[in-house]
This record gives sequence, structure tokens and C-alpha cells, in this order.
Amino acid sequence: MKQFVNGVLGLVCLSLGQMALADGKVETQYRQAVMKSIGGHMASMGTILKNQVHMEDLVMHAKGLAGLADIAPEVFPEGSDTEKSKALPAVWENPEEFSEAMDRMIAAAEKMATAAANEDMSEIGPAIQALGGSCKGCHDDFKAE
Ligand code: HEC
Repeated sequence: MKQFVNGVLGLVCLSLGQMALADGKVETQYRQAVMKSIGGHMASMGTILKNQVHMEDLVMHAKGLAGLADIAPEVFPEGSDTEKSKALPAVWENPEEFSEAMDRMIAAAEKMATAAANEDMSEIGPAIQALGGSCKGCHDDFKAE
């Protein structure tokens, strides 16, 4: 019994140790997955609007992106600037500017979700443009290449 308990404790310590080591890597993986999801919704909306197909899905994509935008500030923790990451050091060196760029996307995503729900093309056009601008606005300063 004692041996068993020691064995289990050993395993727990081992996996905790690995967790601590893997953290930055995992955070980078998660961040990139979240960004890809944001990119997926954006590309879907672009295809829908350009070709006027699947218009009934627009609200879902707009809401999905807005939900992801809300969690985006949480996916850049300290220590996640790993080798695989394209996030520039500026993310952590200029947190105020970074957070402003984030807020612009969150606000633009919210507007896009409202415009899509209203089914008003005169609102949707400018809203998707502003949303696209908010991506570029951050990528120009905070993402490599
Ligand atoms: C506040 C900053 C910021 C905003 C706003 C932002 N991004 Fe990003 N994005 C980044 C950073 C930094 C990376 C690089 C992340 C990494 O590699 O660790 C990135 C990566 C990406 C990637 C590549 C993911 C991969 O690894 O393949 C896509 C796609 C992407 N963003 C799409 C978007 C879209 C679409 C928007 C707007 C709706 C957007 N982003 C808004 C900062 C931002």
C-alpha cells in the first residue's frame, strides 16, 4: 500500500513537472488554434458576403467570432513567446497598445454581430471592413511577417 501511494505521488509530481515545462508551448498551441478559429469565421463571412451564399449562417459566424474575440486577451500569457510563436516581443513589451488593438477587435466584432443580426447590408459592409481592419491593425505591429 505504501509503495502504491508513493508510486502514485511520484506520477503526480512527474506530470505536474511536465505541465510546468509544457505550459508555454501549450499556450502557444492554444493561442494559434484560437486565432485560426477567428480566421475561419472571418474567411467564412468573406465567402458568404462575396458570393451571397449561405446568408443564413452569417449571424452564427459573426457571433462565433465575437465570442472568440472576448477570450482573445486571455491567450497571450507571460512565458508563451515560444519558438513556434509568431507573436512579436512587442505583445509583452507594449501591453497598453496591445490591449487597445485587442479592444478595437472586440468592439468591431460586437458591431459585426449586431449588423448581421439586423440583416442590414448597409451596416454589414462597413462592419466587416472595420473588423478586417482591426485584425490588420494588430498584426502589423504585433505579429511576425
Ligand atoms: C490584438 C492583436 C490581434 C488581433 C486584434 C488579431 N490578431 Fe490574429 N494574431 C495575433 C498574433 C500576435 C498572432 C501570432 C500568434 C502566434 O503565432 O503565437 C496572430 C495569429 C493569427 C493567425 C495565424 C494562426 C496560426 O498560427 O496559423 C490568424 C489566421 C489570425 N491571427 C487571424 C486573425 C483575424 C482574422 C483577426 C481579426 C478578426 C485577428 N487575427 C485579430 C494578434 C492579433
